Amino acid sequence: MFSSRGAVLFLFLCLCWSSSKIVVAADDDSITDPIEVSALRSIKKSLVDDYSKLSNWNRGDPCTSNWTGVLCFNTTMDDGYLHLRELQLLNLNLSGNLSPEIGRLSYLTILDFMWNKISGSIPKEIGNIKSLELLLLNGNELTGSLPEELGYLPKLDRIQIDQNYISGSLPKSFANLNKTRHFHMNNNSISGQIPPELSRLPSLVHMLLDNNNLTGYLPPELSELPKLLILQLDNNNFEGTTIPASYSNMSKLLKLSLRNCSLQGPMPDLSRIPNLGYLDLSSNQLNGSIPPGRLSLNITTIKLSNNKLTGTIPSNFSGLPRLQRLFIANNSLSGSIPSSIWQSRTLNATETFILDFQNNNLTNISGSFNIPPNVTVRLRGNPFCLNTNAEQFCGSHSDDDNEIDRSTNSTLDCRAQSCPTDYEYSPTSPIRCFCAAPLLVGYRLKSPGLSYFPAYKNLFEEYMTSGLKLNLYQLDIDSFRWEKGPRLKMYLKLFPVYDNSSGNSYVFNASEVGRIRSMFTGWNIPDSDIFGPYELINFTLQGPYRDVFPPSRNSGISKAALAGIILGAIAGAVTISAIVSLLIVRAHMKNYHAISRRRHSSKTSIKIDGVRSFTYGEMALATNNFNSSTQIGQGGYGKVYKGILPDGTVVAVKRAQEGSLQGEKEFLTEIQFLSRLHHRNLVSLVGYCDEEGEQMLVYEFMSNGTLRDQLSGIFSVIRHSGICFFLH
Ligand SMILES: *[C@@H]1O[C@H](CO)[C@@H](O)[C@H](O)[C@H]1NC(C)=O
Ligand SMILES: *[C@@H]1O[C@H](CO)[C@@H](O)[C@H](O)[C@H]1NC(C)=O
Ligand SMILES: *[C@@H]1O[C@H](CO)[C@@H](O)[C@H](O)[C@H]1NC(C)=O
Ligand SMILES: *[C@@H]1O[C@H](CO)[C@@H](O)[C@H](O)[C@H]1NC(C)=O
Ligand SMILES: *[C@@H]1O[C@H](CO)[C@@H](O)[C@H](O)[C@H]1NC(C)=O
Ligand SMILES: *[C@@H]1O[C@H](CO)[C@@H](O)[C@H](O)[C@H]1NC(C)=O
Ligand SMILES: *[C@@H]1O[C@H](CO)[C@@H](O)[C@H](O)[C@H]1NC(C)=O
Ligand SMILES: *[C@@H]1O[C@H](CO)[C@@H](O)[C@H](O)[C@H]1NC(C)=O
Ligand SMILES: *[C@@H]1O[C@H](CO)[C@@H](O)[C@H](O)[C@H]1NC(C)=O
Ligand SMILES: *[C@@H]1O[C@H](CO)[C@@H](O)[C@H](O)[C@H]1NC(C)=O
Ligand SMILES: *[C@@H]1O[C@H](CO)[C@@H](O)[C@H](O)[C@H]1NC(C)=O
Ligand SMILES: *[C@@H]1O[C@H](CO)[C@@H](O)[C@H](O)[C@H]1NC(C)=O
Repeated sequence: MFSSRGAVLFLFLCLCWSSSKIVVAADDDSITDPIEVSALRSIKKSLVDDYSKLSNWNRGDPCTSNWTGVLCFNTTMDDGYLHLRELQLLNLNLSGNLSPEIGRLSYLTILDFMWNKISGSIPKEIGNIKSLELLLLNGNELTGSLPEELGYLPKLDRIQIDQNYISGSLPKSFANLNKTRHFHMNNNSISGQIPPELSRLPSLVHMLLDNNNLTGYLPPELSELPKLLILQLDNNNFEGTTIPASYSNMSKLLKLSLRNCSLQGPMPDLSRIPNLGYLDLSSNQLNGSIPPGRLSLNITTIKLSNNKLTGTIPSNFSGLPRLQRLFIANNSLSGSIPSSIWQSRTLNATETFILDFQNNNLTNISGSFNIPPNVTVRLRGNPFCLNTNAEQFCGSHSDDDNEIDRSTNSTLDCRAQSCPTDYEYSPTSPIRCFCAAPLLVGYRLKSPGLSYFPAYKNLFEEYMTSGLKLNLYQLDIDSFRWEKGPRLKMYLKLFPVYDNSSGNSYVFNASEVGRIRSMFTGWNIPDSDIFGPYELINFTLQGPYRDVFPPSRNSGISKAALAGIILGAIAGAVTISAIVSLLIVRAHMKNYHAISRRRHSSKTSIKIDGVRSFTYGEMALATNNFNSSTQIGQGGYGKVYKGILPDGTVVAVKRAQEGSLQGEKEFLTEIQFLSRLHHRNLVSLVGYCDEEGEQMLVYEFMSNGTLRDQLSGIFSVIRHSGICFFLH
């Protein structure tokens, strides 16, 4: 009867050979928490995936089948399931909505949907993910307000919701985020008052709320934030309130940016902030005179333009050794300009210093009229320029203070086009003109503490390479460009180390790619005072890295476990075919009564090199009559036993249970397939048993790691390698 099954179903085992690898697809014996699997299905359903970036979410199990962007804990938890650790779906052109089912990914630490086109609101259910550390939703089209529930995430380290269309006010509940260090919500339409309660946040270091629609007053209480380094609130509307005097007590502050905030009143004396590096109070209605106290020696940028400041320019702007920009244009400053501000500076070839005092009421310069190299002084629109004809001060200058890349081409002397596609000369390598495949990283400094980058390029390279644990020469800043904010966008190329022993082409290995990528995506590169927070724009895996994505998948899974996974994959393949078969058999054979386990003995028995055909008796002997003490695994397909063959070979015997049996022809075809699989990570097939209504596969036993774990339902798609089942 069983043999008539073939008449009812057409199960095609299709061997898809792609490149040199074999692709195994299928399985159902999930070991990922089924709640999370179904949550992922709902998540996919609510998204619109125009570019089929999530097409592999249809196959196998999320944690073991390389579902794009799904990263799991490397071991099962007490409940016996694998759980999702990270969902990394950045830059995949996804649109649609975020499903509330996201809230069921209860063990998630990173939720990353950056740089897609997702619309709709932020599901309040995200507040259920108590383990969440990074919430990364920036660069989408999200609307609605910020759910209060997000304030109850005890482990949240970083909340990035910038560059969306979020409206409504900041929930007071956010004051409970006592682990949160990064608060990035700039470029939205958030309105209302900044809740003074946020001053309770004990860990907050970066607060970016610029380019919103915030109103009310600027809470003086924010000065109580014990760790705050960056406060950036540009382009909001604080309706003519003053800058709280308490802000001059923010002893940790590195950057204060309150440009275009409708602030009035006097400019506070910020000279007591010891490490202040960047100050932007431009485009407000600040009046009164500039406080005479000297700002921190670390200051790179002072922007006070477009206010109503009066009085004179304090001589204490002199002797600031790192100052790059001093902008006080469009005010009502009068008197003379102390030339000591620029005379005191000696700049090296990578530095610039621009002073902009245009459109004030300045009448003369005290001291020398000489301007040192790389210093620019702009004085147009002052009475001074009516009286003199000093071109160096009164000529027209472009208002473009943001330099663009001027990188030199150090690979010019390498023979053009002698690198294969996707490989290029590393411009920074100590070995000239060797071809290597770089990793390409779109990167942006969100709130840098500097205004002219070339002076800090070396420092940046040191910071970045030491953060990534790479050699200095492995990084090349391919290009950089200032954007509104100002933010500094860069394109980084990371080159593998020169290795004399590996031929002429150089690539990172997969685990290194995964490591580097997770440094960026997990924000594991330590923050820098001067460079501020960064964001990842893209991490392109092309050329030799194309197949590496997603790179940190199963990163913690040992080789033995990997073997188990592949073994499991095969088990899964058997299982799914068997289960599908069974369902169809059941559906179509309702009239058949008991399905006999006993089948005709094999008449089509095949001879396959290196694969032995065992009898039921031999198997029973090897496994002590399938004694439960020899059982080492159990899955939907049946049980796995440890056995010892008469010659001493230790084997794992996978015995299909009733209901998982497949057609004889299919079974033998599969054995033939398995016998052709040769992979270093794959446990090899020793033999099979196909008689007495039994189907067993006999594998070499992997002593390393517990086979039970490895087999407890790991199945799956092996990308670029696989058996595809088609049901007709
Ligand atoms: C996203 O879509 C745009 C066109 O809408 C396309 O140019 C771009 O290549 C796509 N990006 C990815 C990562 O597929
Ligand atoms: C954070 O909040 C929790 C619960 O409110 C509390 O137990 C913990 O002590 C707080 N931690 C800090 C650093 O304030
Ligand atoms: C942020 O908003 C400002 C003002 O709307 C805009 O000029 C700027 O380009 C935006 N930046 C980004 C990165 O969207
Ligand atoms: C800002 O809020 C005001 C009302 O307070 C509203 O009229 C305006 O449209 C809002 N602007 C944006 C860009 O959301
Ligand atoms: C300035 O910055 C350096 C490092 O960039 C730091 O070590 C120093 O403490 C800062 N403060 C002053 C007043 O120089
Ligand atoms: C120029 O000065 C900056 C700091 O002001 C320093 O970081 C850089 O290394 C100097 N460059 C050279 C070529 O001396
Ligand atoms: C600084 O001046 C020197 C000498 O004039 C020049 O060679 C160099 O290019 C200038 N640097 C910058 C960044 O403008
Ligand atoms: C400029 O300064 C002179 C005195 O130096 C003063 O008489 C005049 O009113 C000022 N003009 C403006 C527009 O402030
Ligand atoms: C640098 O020179 C190489 C070799 O001539 C050329 O292929 C490449 O496009 C150049 N890069 C830039 C940024 O000019
Ligand atoms: C990645 O980002 C860089 C810098 O923003 C950009 O130049 C590059 O085109 C981007 N690449 C892709 C594939 O989106
Ligand atoms: C599993 O992951 C944890 C941390 O995530 C790590 O400490 C452990 O070494 C990993 N185990 C294996 C077998 O890789
Ligand atoms: C998943 O991807 C990793 C890295 O690309 C690869 O080593 C592994 O074999 C894949 N696993 C499966 C089950 O496809």
